Amino acid sequence: MDTNNIAAVLGKLDFEIFVLTAAHQDRRNGQIVCWVVPATIVPQLPRILVGIGWKTFTRELVEKSHRFALNLLGKDQWPLVTHFGFRSGREMDKFATLPFERGVTGSPILSGTVGYLECEVRTVLDAGTGAHLFYLADVIDGKIVADRSPLCLHHLPDVLPPEDFATMQRLLQYDAQCNLSLLKHTATSNKLS
Ligand SMILES: Cc1cc2nc3c(=O)[nH]c(=O)nc-3n(C[C@H](O)[C@H](O)[C@H](O)COP(=O)(O)O)c2cc1C
Repeated sequence: MDTNNIAAVLGKLDFEIFVLTAAHQDRRNGQIVCWVVPATIVPQLPRILVGIGWKTFTRELVEKSHRFALNLLGKDQWPLVTHFGFRSGREMDKFATLPFERGVTGSPILSGTVGYLECEVRTVLDAGTGAHLFYLADVIDGKIVADRSPLCLHHLPDVLPPEDFATMQRLLQYDAQCNLSLLKHTATSNKLS
């Protein structure tokens, strides 16, 4: 298996960048996600699949409320990648200085995005690695806010300041290492059982 060849094919995918937001009681939060895939071909029953790390604070709020919103960022909204993707809301209120409204799901809807989707969790799929969970959700509301180009993963090397891009690579490599050890552990346990 040549992982570089595989990465080259996967690199052709766009991976638009979203801020996934959720709220429960008096807590609200948001995190960057790019594992987002439409999960139905039936327009009357829109569904979406999102991969969320076990340890994020936002996932805890989704678990409690069963609801979330996906805010699709515009290309000019790259500063929100560091704001929502580098730190945890356990340590700070990420919405303290940002304009937002509450959506029908109670989740924060950010201002100035390309558009948003509001979602209700239908089922949770555990990939079995202990690292990520995949949430299959009904999309119950949504709107284009400003019809313009979304921010994608492949834009980040050009738009992020070099020190932020280096930090992002460090964080993603750290996550990848943690996931690799979990995957190896799962593979060994499966062989033993
Ligand atoms: C470009 C980028 C893409 C990311 N994609 C995902 C993703 O798809 N799923 C996920 O769970 N975390 C993803 N993350 C990491 C979370 O956004 C990050 O761990 C965040 O700090 C969690 O915040 P919270 O603890 O406040 O919820 C991504 C981060 C970056 C910078």
